[in-house]
Amino acid sequence: MATNMRTVCVTGASGNVGCYTLDCLTKEYKDRVKIIAGLRPGRQLPQELGKYKIDTVNLDFNDAKSVANAVKGCESVLVVPPQDEKRTQMGKNAIDGCKQSGVRHIVLISIAGADTGKGIFAKQFLEIEEYLKKSGLQWTILRPNFFMENIAMLKEPIRKGELPHPLKNNATFAPIAVEDVGRAAATCLADPQRFVNKIFTLSGPEELNGTRKAEIVSRVLGKPIKYVDLEPKELKDFIVSKKFMPEWQAQGIAEIYEEVPTGRVQKRTDDLMQITGKQPINFERFVMNMKNELITPTTEAR
Ligand SMILES: NC(=O)c1ccc[n+]([C@@H]2O[C@H](COP(=O)([O-])OP(=O)(O)OC[C@H]3O[C@@H](n4cnc5c(N)ncnc54)[C@H](OP(=O)(O)O)[C@@H]3O)[C@@H](O)[C@H]2O)c1
Repeated sequence: MATNMRTVCVTGASGNVGCYTLDCLTKEYKDRVKIIAGLRPGRQLPQELGKYKIDTVNLDFNDAKSVANAVKGCESVLVVPPQDEKRTQMGKNAIDGCKQSGVRHIVLISIAGADTGKGIFAKQFLEIEEYLKKSGLQWTILRPNFFMENIAMLKEPIRKGELPHPLKNNATFAPIAVEDVGRAAATCLADPQRFVNKIFTLSGPEELNGTRKAEIVSRVLGKPIKYVDLEPKELKDFIVSKKFMPEWQAQGIAEIYEEVPTGRVQKRTDDLMQITGKQPINFERFVMNMKNELITPTTEAR
């Protein structure tokens, strides 16, 4: 191991973005950075990371001191604000903890459209972004579009031959695979100077309307799937009725879909390519990778 290696910490290590970030860091940058994974006490790294033998530290975003203790000696930290109604305060606590410990650079996972300040998610994330910018630390803000993985919530309708979405009047959006979000985060942690004090909106490679999405799912699964137009509120009610998410969070998703037809959010960008130098995964390849999961019956949310 090189003696001048920088240490980076990935929080949210048991979650989707954290897991893919650690996977990419370990595969592509382990000769350049020492990697630490931040977990809540009692939590484990996902099984798929077991083979890498990553060092772990305990932290809780409800307690800035615990973050400060965990990230001691780290130069860059990925802050993944949890899916929690208290997300704003938790994100600020994480930033405070990093600052107390002398961390130089934070990569923050935010959300596409945070700058609109419209809707609960944008308000939560914009406040964290502003707090980070004023912290005096170096920062990189990543604002991902909707994750392609959200399709897991639609397994039941897909099995019935339907793909319901609130994409009225041919509205389009460009979802991203979490693997690509992780690759972008890993690159920013490993090579921060190129990305300091910049904001990137991360999207998949193509803008899709509802019919096109349904065609792709239909082709990959080999059965007819038709697009069904939903009101954003109907999607919210569906998510709540299936207990995929609590009401405030389902409301946050519905609010974003209200904005999609305006063309101001969830559009395609080249930012991911700019960071990683690689094309993001397209929706067809993503669905192929997820085919088995999409055809396996389950009543559980991911
Ligand atoms: N889904 C989308 O389409 C989308 C799009 C853009 C942005 N985002 C945002 O991106 C972020 C990451 O998403 P994700 O899918 O990776 O979320 P996730 O899988 O739910 O991961 C969240 C992580 O936060 C951790 N966590 C929870 N409470 C914590 C606490 N008190 N202290 C420290 N860590 C805590 C969780 O750990 P435990 O295992 O301990 O619970 C988990 O590792 C979220 O804020 C999400 O809203 C999502």
